[in-house]
Amino acid sequence: MADVLRFGVDVGGSGVKGAPVDCDTGEFAGERQRFVTPQPSTPDAVTDIVVELLDRFDWKGPVGVAFPAVVRAGVVLTAANIDQSWIGVNVEELFAKRRGVAFRVLNDADAAGLAEVRFGAARDVDGVVLVVTLGTGIGSALFNDGVLVPNTELGHIEIGGQDAEIKAAARQRELGEVSWSRWTKRVDRYLHTLEDLLWPDLIVVGGGISKNWDRFGPDLTTRTKVVPAALRNSAGIVGAAVASP
Ligand code: BGC
Repeated sequence: MADVLRFGVDVGGSGVKGAPVDCDTGEFAGERQRFVTPQPSTPDAVTDIVVELLDRFDWKGPVGVAFPAVVRAGVVLTAANIDQSWIGVNVEELFAKRRGVAFRVLNDADAAGLAEVRFGAARDVDGVVLVVTLGTGIGSALFNDGVLVPNTELGHIEIGGQDAEIKAAARQRELGEVSWSRWTKRVDRYLHTLEDLLWPDLIVVGGGISKNWDRFGPDLTTRTKVVPAALRNSAGIVGAAVASP
């Protein structure tokens, strides 16, 4: 068990969550802990929380972190749902300096996708798999034969002249008084647009909303098979742990 035990952290717009993960089974090897994301979610404030989280578990090894932005070679390049001051920060170096261990930081949807491909709804699926996470924003992860193309950012494609995330993220349904059926139509249009561009073999819908699959899943009309994520809210943590150094 010891060699397959890794630690995953999921930094989100509202919570910073983490747990040790058994990377053989994709299951948590300890009870998940959650802290409220500090506001403003600046680099220093988020680093403090990540350190506190690791202290809670007395975790001294390397760490994988799912982060809600484009992260290329450790550097944060966008900030749609996190404080703007992150842009240009080498988050892997920042965390490593504070903790004295190696960190691997990757986009949160990429992490969730890795978990679904390894343990969940896209396990053993060949060909092109598209994972979209509908939450505060929309994240995407694209795989071909299990190999990730990182940082695809398909939540920001324009549909009808608007950023898709503004219309179809789960938060939009919760914030505005948008009915399930209206929101489902937006999601359906979004998925059709992606389908027409990418022709995936399977689409996996993740994010917290996937637990309400029965309220919208059956009304989606793409030709491509669409299934709910299997790991739901744990996918980010599990995928981050899988990607950990
Ligand atoms: C960000 C993505 C992120 C997604 C989900 C989007 O606004 O641009 O990088 O994966 O939200 O958190």
